[in-house]
Amino acid sequence: MRVILVGLGSLGQGFLDHLVTRSDELRDRYGLRVKIVAALDTSGAVVQPAGVDPAVLVRAKRTPGGLSNLQPSFRPGRRALEIIHTVEADAVVEVTPTNILDGEPAMSHIRGSLKAKRHVVTANKGPIVLAMSYLAALAEEQGVLLRFSGTVGGGTPMLDLARLSLRGDRVLEIAGILNGTTNYVLTRMGEGLEFDAALQEAQKLGYAEANPKYDVEGTDAAIKLTILSNWVMGAKLHVTDIATRGIESIIHAEVERARAQGQVIKLLARYDGKRARVEPELIPASDSLNVPGPLNAVTYTTEDLGAVTLIGKGAGGRETSSALLRDLIDIHLQTK
Ligand SMILES: NC(=O)c1ccc[n+]([C@@H]2O[C@H](COP(=O)([O-])OP(=O)(O)OC[C@H]3O[C@@H](n4cnc5c(N)ncnc54)[C@H](OP(=O)(O)O)[C@@H]3O)[C@@H](O)[C@H]2O)c1
Repeated sequence: MRVILVGLGSLGQGFLDHLVTRSDELRDRYGLRVKIVAALDTSGAVVQPAGVDPAVLVRAKRTPGGLSNLQPSFRPGRRALEIIHTVEADAVVEVTPTNILDGEPAMSHIRGSLKAKRHVVTANKGPIVLAMSYLAALAEEQGVLLRFSGTVGGGTPMLDLARLSLRGDRVLEIAGILNGTTNYVLTRMGEGLEFDAALQEAQKLGYAEANPKYDVEGTDAAIKLTILSNWVMGAKLHVTDIATRGIESIIHAEVERARAQGQVIKLLARYDGKRARVEPELIPASDSLNVPGPLNAVTYTTEDLGAVTLIGKGAGGRETSSALLRDLIDIHLQTK
């Protein structure tokens, strides 16, 4: 499969690392050979129609000078849309930064790729939260596939569990811890830290978003709840429909009081088909959503099975890029 990779940050590089370490398994188990025909960051594009070695690409990106080390394949200043339209490829992996105001530049990259009849894999929440149904319809119209399992839960397959493994059953309610930073902060507050100290620690450990306001005010969780509800339960929610309250006003004494009563405070995202909300809630310490540190968790309450809970790491370059690989394998298997 010929792939154009747009974005070479932690996910783009994680994806390339997976291609290096898993190439035999991809070939033997799935019959999938991934050929990176172009890769881009903000400096420009590397284009090699015969395929660039992912190990060489990732080494160049991590060396001073970046992609410009790869002469003569490097094309400085080249933009993704131009490459998407001119380089022959089967799929585009889009991992540029998330922008929830207008989805750009990813929105144009994804729309352009689908219009050019290229399958798309992304972990970018912006275009998916803003325009999931439009993009899904465009993909269908163009006869290509759009996959975005890394947008919620990082590498933990929250979307796939509900859409694939629970097929035939009916999800009645979604409740989840969808933001690792706030969960880490609340966990550390339960261990004695005040909010600011716990947040600083989360930032140092690389858990927080570039703008930690998105985490602590509940916006990131609201974005993910919107994607989950729309994809899993066929809702038609916008982020602004989610009643959202963050954790910024919680003090250590409240967390301590909850603990003394056998409870914990968690930032929970819930949708029951009517109301969608993200807010701090008191839950029993024995609840399956009481997961520690930066973990994410989701409980689907279904008509036949009752509660089904999935717990896992909700972010991280290596973890989330495994969702990109999973989506690409799925596209390969669906189209071969
Ligand atoms: N990291 C995670 O754990 C995680 C989890 C779930 C979802 N996501 C989502 O996945 C996406 C990628 O995340 P990340 O952590 O890999 O981000 P990142 O480290 O900030 O990397 C973004 C990459 O995109 C490149 N880029 C920016 N604008 C571009 C443009 N117009 N054309 C081509 N390349 C462009 C950047 O180039 P330069 O290298 O030149 O700056 C960089 O290589 C984001 O939307 C994020 O929200 C991430």
